[in-house]
Amino acid sequence: STERRVDDLLSRMTLAEKIGQMTQAERANATPEDVTELGLGSILSGGGSVPADNTPEGWADMVDAYQDGALAGRLGIPVLYGVDAVHGHANLYGATVFPHNIGLGATRDRRLVEEVNHITAKETRATGPQWNFAPCLCVVRDDRWGRTYESFGESPDLVSRLSVAVRGLQGRRGELDDRDRVLATPKHFAGDGLTTYGTPTGDYTVDQGISIVSRQEFARLALAPYWPAIQKYDAGSVMPSFSSVDWTEDGVGNPVKMTANRQLLTGVLKRRMGFDGLVISDWEAIHQLPGDWNTQVRTAVNAGVDMAMEPAQFRQFITALTEEVEAGRVSRARINDAVRRILTAKFELGLFEKPYTDRRNIDKVGSAAHRKVAREAVAESQVLLKNRGGVLPLSKKAPVYVAGSNADNIGNQAGGWTLTWQGGSTNVIPGTTILEGIDDASRRNVTFSETASTPVPSNATGVVVVGETPYAEGFGDVGGPRWAYDPGDNGVPRPVKDMLLSAADQQAVDTVCTQAAECVVIVVSGRPLEIPPALLSKIDGLVAGWLPGSEGDGVADVLFGKKRFTGKLPVTWPRTVDQEPINVGDADYDPLYPYGFGLSTR
Ligand code: IFM
Repeated sequence: STERRVDDLLSRMTLAEKIGQMTQAERANATPEDVTELGLGSILSGGGSVPADNTPEGWADMVDAYQDGALAGRLGIPVLYGVDAVHGHANLYGATVFPHNIGLGATRDRRLVEEVNHITAKETRATGPQWNFAPCLCVVRDDRWGRTYESFGESPDLVSRLSVAVRGLQGRRGELDDRDRVLATPKHFAGDGLTTYGTPTGDYTVDQGISIVSRQEFARLALAPYWPAIQKYDAGSVMPSFSSVDWTEDGVGNPVKMTANRQLLTGVLKRRMGFDGLVISDWEAIHQLPGDWNTQVRTAVNAGVDMAMEPAQFRQFITALTEEVEAGRVSRARINDAVRRILTAKFELGLFEKPYTDRRNIDKVGSAAHRKVAREAVAESQVLLKNRGGVLPLSKKAPVYVAGSNADNIGNQAGGWTLTWQGGSTNVIPGTTILEGIDDASRRNVTFSETASTPVPSNATGVVVVGETPYAEGFGDVGGPRWAYDPGDNGVPRPVKDMLLSAADQQAVDTVCTQAAECVVIVVSGRPLEIPPALLSKIDGLVAGWLPGSEGDGVADVLFGKKRFTGKLPVTWPRTVDQEPINVGDADYDPLYPYGFGLSTR
């Protein structure tokens, strides 16, 4: 049995070999020889950290080279390779890029979410990595959060239902060793989407901030999705959140970082939920803890961290943990427990039998069959918010005038975590833009001007595709600087934050909607954007398009009636940013469009 094999191997390992297994380094900083020398348990690609040859074969060769390094070690323990394939294996050029989770949340479709994640697993494992730092099971409560688009939505019930993503990645129990499955990592445990914008101590960070809540609210909003992810879908690993939690019952003012939170990592996750997989810390998260290096390392490992993501300082981590164990401040039992969890994952993935990449699915990466599923996901994710006069679906015969910053920009359409960490319009990924989709669907009766600077024919339907530029792990400001600061009310600097449609997009909408016979606006963004009322009144059709990914023609499918609009809002759409945080069930709930809203077409 796996248990016996793990025990046997563990009994033959030295302390150094065990601590090596508990260490993960970043590919840019560690060579296959480092893996041999230190017995590193894992290597990761941070966002955008790709091999020089960013092709499926290039990835598989890179991962296999690290595997050579691992197998050359005394005990030949295979290495685990981890990536952030959060909407497809999107760091790989040519992969199928799915809608970000916010769009999948709009579909409400468990079967689809499972399939999307299965394809993601297939494209990932075929090219080497056997471990995915996904799905994000955050329940987003404040849309100013820069990771809103990584959430399935604001409702813990919705996120819990879509935690079936874990099964999409891992398969059912016993299927992890298949060549189309990877180890899943529900993240970020817990309360990442629950952080408070503007704490009493002046913390305006909504990314790695503080969740100031009662224990009851924390259980309802932050812990809920982890129960099914662990107990029903048997998630193999979990990543603690960068954020802190501060129980209001204890009096505000004692935030504890999740990486140091023994009560939650060991007490709740491992004991109460019965999680028997491995806890992997976030990027250098250990060094956000108070104290010197040794204190930080000791605190995290004693809290329940089993493997440390130490992108660059993996040698220092090994030294510190070794000292702590030798001084008796971290018990050998804790080390054995951590290593047992890591080895179990490696056995279950079948890495001892087949350590090298099984490349038989490599030709399926970015295949037509996979893109077809992505296109369906895009169509299902579109939410129709307004349909004055039944403007949608559009006729295929009328001329179409297309404008807006996100009509013909596949980088913006894909969002963050695509080719690079932050994503970006300079990235070109294979696929179709929304403009190309419209062009195909409308029998090429299309004129395009991004800024609406050419005349709009009065018999044309206008389609203006507006929205955000990509971002990851930051605030993400529409058309503005991401990290600008303003003196706040009490003199404490606070980030300038808005969710307003950019001036250029407002201008394009105004021009087109004034001149065209009828107009439709598609918002391509990771969260709701603020649309001024005077502008909204000029718009006939309004669509929340989210971040669709590589298959822009899925948007055209619903625009032109090939498919019906069926998506429902996964988050509340506020009138203005000042209403944030706004969530269904709040007192005085008066949004522009409520949670769950979405019109249909025939
Ligand atoms: O998995 C991610 C995490 O979501 C944010 N910090 C970096 C990790 C690895 O790239």
